Amino acid sequence: MEVLEQQQTENENSYLKKSDRLKFEDLDWEKIRDEKISDDDIFVLTYFADIEGQTFFYARDLMNTSSVDSSEVRAFLTVWNYQEYFHSVALRRFMRESGREVSEERDQALRERTSLRDRLTDGASIVFSKLWPRKYLALYLTWGAINEAIAMRGYLQIANQTSSPVLSELCRRIAKQEAFHFGWYYTKAKDQLTKSKATQKFVAYALSKIWTPVGVGLRSRSDFERLYGLLFQDSQRKREIITFIDSTIHQLPGLANLNLFSTYARLN
Ligand SMILES: [Fe+2]
Ligand SMILES: [Fe+2]
Repeated sequence: MEVLEQQQTENENSYLKKSDRLKFEDLDWEKIRDEKISDDDIFVLTYFADIEGQTFFYARDLMNTSSVDSSEVRAFLTVWNYQEYFHSVALRRFMRESGREVSEERDQALRERTSLRDRLTDGASIVFSKLWPRKYLALYLTWGAINEAIAMRGYLQIANQTSSPVLSELCRRIAKQEAFHFGWYYTKAKDQLTKSKATQKFVAYALSKIWTPVGVGLRSRSDFERLYGLLFQDSQRKREIITFIDSTIHQLPGLANLNLFSTYARLN
């Protein structure tokens, strides 16, 4: 028991070492005014900033579930929420510096527009998590890992294809933190899934029925299609991202036959 507690403390400490917020004040913000930032770039950044800006509400909903019975999850959620907040601040600063207007009220307005279906799902999550806490935790962790993997690859893609050196550097820095989030979710998901075949079956079934890429629901499906088309402009890049996401999921226990991204991408 003592060893387990010590191990847990070490794990917490190791990711608390990575708990710094994103640094972006040192970027050459003056330069942005001379750069040509297209409306498509702004569309992509707005989509990402919207997701980042909802983290607080998402974390608040999670706090009503049994996921936070684990001290490790509580500690991670605190760091994660803090870091994601600064991702949205940095992206919005970039948009403002490029001459676009960004409303301070946008996150709340988006939250209020959340569909009734999503609200019902939130309520169902609370009940489900109390009845089957381990299954719920495994689903939450797996879903989180997929979201973070998509975010990480999305930011890297922006960094690689933008003509703005400032945006490229900013997105590389954000992607680094998304990689840390991904690593945490993925490791914890693996731990939970390893414990039980019934949990594996449940997670595979639930994801196959209700999973959508991060941001869908908050933003429309057609917005996601536009984002996907802008970020992954040719069929080779589309194939790469689909293969990356699906093969990452396949390595988790019991999820070897789950082709979430390729199925979703075909539907669209
Ligand atoms: Fe983020
Ligand atoms: Fe993240």
